Amino acid sequence: MPVASPQPVAQTLPRHIAIIMDGNGRWAKARSLPRLVGHQRGAEAVREVVVTCRDMGIGYLTLYAFSSENWKRPATEVGDLMDLLRFFIRRELEQLQKKGVRIRIIGDRERLAPDIIELIDSTQQRTAGNRGLTLVIALNYGSHNEILAACRRLATEAAAGTLDPAAIDENLFRQHLHTADIPDPDLLIRTSGEQRLSNFLLWQAAYAELVFVDTLWPDFGRAQLQAAVAEFQRRERRYGASGE
Ligand code: IPE
Ligand code: IPE
Ligand code: MG
Repeated sequence: MPVASPQPVAQTLPRHIAIIMDGNGRWAKARSLPRLVGHQRGAEAVREVVVTCRDMGIGYLTLYAFSSENWKRPATEVGDLMDLLRFFIRRELEQLQKKGVRIRIIGDRERLAPDIIELIDSTQQRTAGNRGLTLVIALNYGSHNEILAACRRLATEAAAGTLDPAAIDENLFRQHLHTADIPDPDLLIRTSGEQRLSNFLLWQAAYAELVFVDTLWPDFGRAQLQAAVAEFQRRERRYGASGE
């Protein structure tokens, strides 16, 4: 029987990087500016990070843009964030097309404005054939809702007699998540010094390497991303094995 070889320190690039883009509000507050300006600068930071991932040859980048809990914010801030999303997609689409970026949106559609749903549908369709970086935008996303929706679908199939409950395994379950066709993240970064997942990719990040950085999102760029990737490359991924 072949002896399991020790897990080498991950020298390879992460195939999938997921980012909790946090700290826009604090960035603005530190400058006595409205939160909106922080979000605007945050949207600018997205552009540099997307280009850097593409240049590095990263396969998937998932950005947490709006959580299912962010509806708790004042309506004006929610409106500003939705306007920024509209603006970002419309302005960047042509460039992203040229760069071969494929765009995917994950999250719940309910509560999203009809024009946003139309915009994300057409953006996904228009970029579906691109073979460069896949940019996944988590919009009105929350893992609890995602996992519950998967459970409801499986339970419905079982109740209808079309699914044997014993057949529900990890593989079948993940096929019912929004990320069915997306590999799990290898590296998960959160900016702004907070060290929590805030309902982001709870199933998918089971074995992600977590990197928490103090940088506020509007200040996060190429150098900070490269540093996080270098940190990832120093980690030893063991997946429960002894590592010896
Ligand atoms: C992240 O920045 C953007 C979103 C959550 C949409 P925040 O707005 O959470 O900024 P802080 O945490 O208040 O600094
Ligand atoms: C997480 O940030 C959500 C996004 C970055 C979109 P929050 O700022 O909403 O998270 P909490 O409230 O600090 O956990
Ligand atoms: Mg925050």
